[in-house]
Amino acid sequence: MKKTDMISEITFQVGDPPAVEALVRLRESVGWGGWSGDYATVFERYSTTVSAYSADEELIGWTALVSDGVRHAFFVDVIVDPLHQGRGIGRELVTRAIDVEQARGISLFHADFAKENAPFYAACGFTLCGGAYLDTACSVTR
Ligand SMILES: CC(C)(COP(=O)(O)OP(=O)(O)OC[C@H]1O[C@@H](n2cnc3c(N)ncnc32)[C@H](O)[C@@H]1OP(=O)(O)O)[C@@H](O)C(=O)NCCC(=O)NCCS
Repeated sequence: MKKTDMISEITFQVGDPPAVEALVRLRESVGWGGWSGDYATVFERYSTTVSAYSADEELIGWTALVSDGVRHAFFVDVIVDPLHQGRGIGRELVTRAIDVEQARGISLFHADFAKENAPFYAACGFTLCGGAYLDTACSVTR
């Protein structure tokens, strides 16, 4: 079966961020901290968001981008519920988000990630190079 067939029952929604509680649950499913208190604020500041919902309307995937509005856009999160990983949903989230930004003229896309996820970004077409991030709020986990 092709991956596109495997995700045909998934609904991808551009914009209209999900319920904060659903996103917190999704983050926790991959071992990330909740960030429940500040999502409502950052939702307004993301340039593009894409949410993936299962047939029973559960949030199972999410990504967000911030952009300079001219050339660069940065992926903030790419998350797929572990029960649904390996079905092409992550790549679909990334591809759809890039499509939206490209239509606005953005051409340079950036992502930081743990080393084990490098093959995912390579599969999504990214050129792998050095990168780093600094978290000055150490109590907050990705
Ligand atoms: C990384 C993540 C988003 C991938 O989502 P996914 O839906 O499982 O990925 P896809 O099924 O769309 O995979 C697309 C391609 O990447 C490859 N891939 C995905 N994760 C991979 C991994 N950890 N190692 C090697 N290859 C991987 C797949 O094999 C596939 O390649 P193919 O089409 O050539 O077979 C998901 O594993 C996840 O949510 N991880 C936890 C959160 C995280 O670390 N996010 C990334 C950093 S922000």
